[in-house]
Amino acid sequence: MTAPPDGRPTRIGTPTSRVDGRLRVTGAVRYGSDFAVPHQAYAYLRTSAIARGRITGIDETEARNLPGVLEILTYRNVGDAIKPGRDFQRQGVMDSTIAPLASDQVWYAGQIVAMVIAESFEQARDAAGRLGIDYAAETPKSTFTDDDFVAAEQPGGADPDQRSGTADPAETDGVGDPDRAQADAPVTVDTWYRTPTQHHNPIELFTTTCTWTGDKLTVWESSRNVTGFRNGLAEQLSIDPADIRVLSPYIGGAFGARGFVNQRTAIVALAARRLKRPVRLVVTRSQMFTIATYRAETRQHVRLGADRDGRLLALSHKGWEISSRADNFKVAGTESSIRLYECPNVGSAVTVVHADRNTPGFMRSPPEVPYLFAIESAMDELSYALGMDPVELRRVNDTMVEPVNGRRYTSRNLVACLDAASDAFGWADRDPRPASMVDGDWQVGYGCAGLSLITLAGPASARITVSSQGWVRVQTGGHDVGGGLGTAIAIIVSDLLEVPLDRITVDLGDSDLPPASLAGGSMSTASVCSAVAKACEQLRARRAERAQGDGDGAVEEYAEFLPHGAPHNGMQLLYQGRRVATGGYLMPDRAECSFGAVFVEARIHRQTRELRLPRIVGAYAAGRIINPKAAESQLLGAQIFGAAMALYEATEIDDRYARYTNTNLADYHIPVNADILHHQAIIIPETDDSLNELGVKGIGELATSGVNAAIANAVHHATGIRIRELPIRLEKLLPTHA
Ligand code: MOS
Repeated sequence: MTAPPDGRPTRIGTPTSRVDGRLRVTGAVRYGSDFAVPHQAYAYLRTSAIARGRITGIDETEARNLPGVLEILTYRNVGDAIKPGRDFQRQGVMDSTIAPLASDQVWYAGQIVAMVIAESFEQARDAAGRLGIDYAAETPKSTFTDDDFVAAEQPGGADPDQRSGTADPAETDGVGDPDRAQADAPVTVDTWYRTPTQHHNPIELFTTTCTWTGDKLTVWESSRNVTGFRNGLAEQLSIDPADIRVLSPYIGGAFGARGFVNQRTAIVALAARRLKRPVRLVVTRSQMFTIATYRAETRQHVRLGADRDGRLLALSHKGWEISSRADNFKVAGTESSIRLYECPNVGSAVTVVHADRNTPGFMRSPPEVPYLFAIESAMDELSYALGMDPVELRRVNDTMVEPVNGRRYTSRNLVACLDAASDAFGWADRDPRPASMVDGDWQVGYGCAGLSLITLAGPASARITVSSQGWVRVQTGGHDVGGGLGTAIAIIVSDLLEVPLDRITVDLGDSDLPPASLAGGSMSTASVCSAVAKACEQLRARRAERAQGDGDGAVEEYAEFLPHGAPHNGMQLLYQGRRVATGGYLMPDRAECSFGAVFVEARIHRQTRELRLPRIVGAYAAGRIINPKAAESQLLGAQIFGAAMALYEATEIDDRYARYTNTNLADYHIPVNADILHHQAIIIPETDDSLNELGVKGIGELATSGVNAAIANAVHHATGIRIRELPIRLEKLLPTHA
């Protein structure tokens, strides 16, 4: 169905500029934060000064007497007017179950404790600062303690129903007897790794604008899941989802924090209802660190055992992740890490450790990025223990069947990626001895990593209208989070309906449109484009019928796509805002993943220990690429995320107060252009017809993974210093660490 009629060049697979590129770069598009409503009032948040304890008093007198102040919401006048809803771990759409203004309890520093609404932003901010809030503080737990690792190793772990408990029982997976195989293996590695707390920091601040027209609520907020949003918010407010419309046509940096529904939205909606006027909330950069999700801090323990030829005999990967007291969110990337290579004895265990912190969530390839850092660093360590080339080590352990459940990969081109990237990089020039390559005052190192990303898909629907003049309008509630979904849709429609691109309009990001699954997990192209292709096919069938008859008015088709492996009522679940995803390692009979390999050159100055990253070269095999131009951009952008994870990003926490200390873009470091000199993304052709009719895998988050390990491995090669704790900063490169 997706092949265009014979003899016509196909646009699918042809590099194409964004259909909305001009609008985006000229500032003409309107993001969720850009909408202003006449007569709107302004809201400002006050957040908690303590991380654990209770609010003992709120003095509103001064604030209420300030000019322009309209209302002050606290737990005393909100309470159970808003339901917390269900979070991701409980099959819901909320990013946390800690409802703001529900009670006097403080769960973490920076929790919303009041919202002031005033005629102007400045008045609201002033009044929020003048609230007198008293607390009874308890000593918070900010991060892991040594006991967490001991407790988690006990059979049964800690009590899962005990919200103040330390660690939940571990979630385990595996096959064979990794402990015994490890003990018997001739060559072994046994190491610990750490990854830090990191925050999304999209440039667009978290904003919400709510307005009621009678019983109908309209919300403007940047989201990548308007359908889940409408349903989740309806549950919180105890109203009919049909009475809510959520608008998020463009997103200024989606990232994980915009995938789920945030607790702030419901209080803005409540304020707007009580005041009977529109309310707009703009939060501060600093508040963004605590009112939404982030990447959880991890500790990981990896043990590898191999024979002298480098074949893996044992692989054990244990992880610990920080979550809030209330929620047990975890990404558990061991699902991918223990399946990356062939190995007869494999084990994993992931434990959630509760602390007085906000709830973490998805961030830029959530499972793979922290967990592949550990496994791909450990593989490099094993290559040195074996005296074997690290690329060769990965090659000898390649497999077409994932080792734990024995499911066959529908396609897997890890070795082709290793070959292409190592050739382009010039890996053959590498002297394997650590600290052996020098260029003037610079120590030079080459490092590599293999990587994978689960290929997911979800239900989606789309409507296409063709006017009698041949203009085409495509409508779907999916989201273009920056990767170019709108352009991919236009390309498919252009091919299948034989219409020029400039006659196609794509509407996205509106909960009144036919719903699509969450634009996350790199599954939008596979899901939404499949629904669009189906609608095109129906239109073509209709055209063929018409050719025999008469009539040439506008025509409209609606189509639904249900990925294989989805429940038969998957579309209904989607309409209800429920999350349905299939693929990856969720299928009983097969495994669906994309693969890649990344090579980097690191340079460390002999005296200053300054680290430079002159080159990143990655190769990626991810099924059919609809738009190579957008795909390359996305892969390069993802590499930058990976370099950021390795070298710069870390949210520092003051352990005494369980409070983040660098909550601004001056102190939270991200890479700039000067930090990434040359990088390259090679796309390996791959045909996989068993996934969906388009043969599309996800690429959005693929290239972020592995970069952190490749950089740490290159640093080791350059200096002999093995960095097992990210980010890699200058002080860790002092020669005393060697
Ligand atoms: Mo990703 S942050 O799971 O879209």
